[in-house]
Amino acid sequence: MASKTYRICTLPGDGIGPEIIAEAKRLLEAVGTACDVEFACEDQLIGGAAIDATREAGEDVSALPPATLAAAEAADAVLLAAVGGPKWNDTRPGAVRPEQGLLAIRKNLGLYLNLRPVRVYEALRDASPLREDRLDGVDLLIVRELTGGLYFGEHRREHGVEGAGVAGAAGDKAVDTMEYSEYEIERVIRWAYEAAARRDGIVTSVDKANVLETSRLWREVNHRLNEEYPDVEGEDMLVDNCAMQLVANPSQFDVLVTENTFGDILSDEASMLTGSLGMLASASLGTGTALYEPSHGSAPDIAGKGIANPIAQILSVELMLRYSFQMDDAADDVAGAVEDVLNAGWRTADLADDDTPEDKRLSTSQMGDKIIAAFQARA
Ligand code: NAI
Ligand code: MG
Repeated sequence: MASKTYRICTLPGDGIGPEIIAEAKRLLEAVGTACDVEFACEDQLIGGAAIDATREAGEDVSALPPATLAAAEAADAVLLAAVGGPKWNDTRPGAVRPEQGLLAIRKNLGLYLNLRPVRVYEALRDASPLREDRLDGVDLLIVRELTGGLYFGEHRREHGVEGAGVAGAAGDKAVDTMEYSEYEIERVIRWAYEAAARRDGIVTSVDKANVLETSRLWREVNHRLNEEYPDVEGEDMLVDNCAMQLVANPSQFDVLVTENTFGDILSDEASMLTGSLGMLASASLGTGTALYEPSHGSAPDIAGKGIANPIAQILSVELMLRYSFQMDDAADDVAGAVEDVLNAGWRTADLADDDTPEDKRLSTSQMGDKIIAAFQARA
C-alpha cells in the first residue's frame, strides 16, 4: 500500500487526447512507484467526446456534463488533454461546441491564474525561429491573470449612434471595459513573488501604466509586494517594450506577471521562442482543483495514428507534481528525463527533421517508454 493516494480526474477529450494522456498516466504510475504514492486516475468526458456521449444517451447535450464537473471538483488535480475537431464545427446558433467545455471547467473551478513555463532545450535549439545565441539561458515562467480584465468586463454594442459612422453619420459603437480590483491583482502578483523566490528571484510586472488606470493600480500593488519580498528583485515593464524584449533579449526574464489580455498575447509570443508546440505545458490554479494541460490542441490531422508527441502532456504532469503535490524532486526528474531523451536524439515525427536517423524516430508510446525509463534511471 502506498503511503498516500491522490485522485486525478483525467480528461482525454478529442483527437490525439486519448493517445497522449495514456502516456501521462503510465508515467504517473512510474512516479507513484518511485515515490510511494498512489495516483488514482479516473477518466471523464469533456469536449466533443462528451457532446457525442450525452447526445447518444438522450441527455442534455453538453461539452461538460455534470458528472465530469463533480469529479473534477472532488479530485486533487485535473489532467486535461485537448478538445475539438472538425466533427463538431457546428456554427449554427445554439449549437454546443467542444470549447465550451474548456471555458466552463475553468470558470467553475475558479482558475484565476495561468502559468506557462518557457524553457529552451539544448537538443531542439535549431527549431527556434530566433538566432541560437539569443536562446542562451532562456528559462522563464509567465504568470497570467485569467478571470478578470477586458475579457470579463462589460461588453456592449450601441446601434445608430450620431457621429459614430462614416463621415460623422450615425453608426455603431462598441465598448469593452477593463476592470481590476486590488484583490484580483494582489493574488497573482503575490504568487509570482513566491515563485520567483524559489527560482532566480526576479519578477517583471508588465503593464501599460503610462495610459491605463488599471495598470497604475497594478503597478502600486507590485511596488507594495516588492517591499514584502526583499530577496526578490521586482521591476515594472511596459507591455510594448516587453513584447520587444521577449525576442531581443529573452534570457533577462525569470517570472513575468501580467493581466489577462497582455498575458494572452505575450504567452503565445514567448511560447514560440522554443519553436515546438508539442513541448509546452500549462497550469491553471485558483480557488478550486488545479488543472494541467498541454498548450496545443487536439491535432485532428494526426489523431489515431500513434505519432503524436506526448511531451507537452507529460510536462503537464511535471507541473502537477510541482504545484498540486509539492513533489519538486519528482517534478525535476520528469523534466530531466525529457531532457535526457531529447539529448539522446530520440524524436517523435513533429520534432524530427531530414537529419534524424530512421532508428531514432519514435511513436507516441515509444516516446512514453523512453521518458519513463529515463525517469526511473534518475529517480
Ligand atoms: P493544434 O494545436 O491541434 O494543431 C496545430 C498543428 O500542430 C497540427 O498540424 C498538429 O498536428 C500539430 N500538433 C499539435 N499538437 C501536437 C502534438 N502533441 N504532437 C505532434 N503534432 C502536434 O491546433 P489546431 O489545428 O488549430 O486545432 C485543432 C483543434 O484543436 C481545433 O478543434 C481547435 O479548436 C482545438 N484546440 C483545442 C485547444 C485545447 O483543447 N486547449 C487549444 C487549441 C486548439
Ligand atoms: Mg491564446
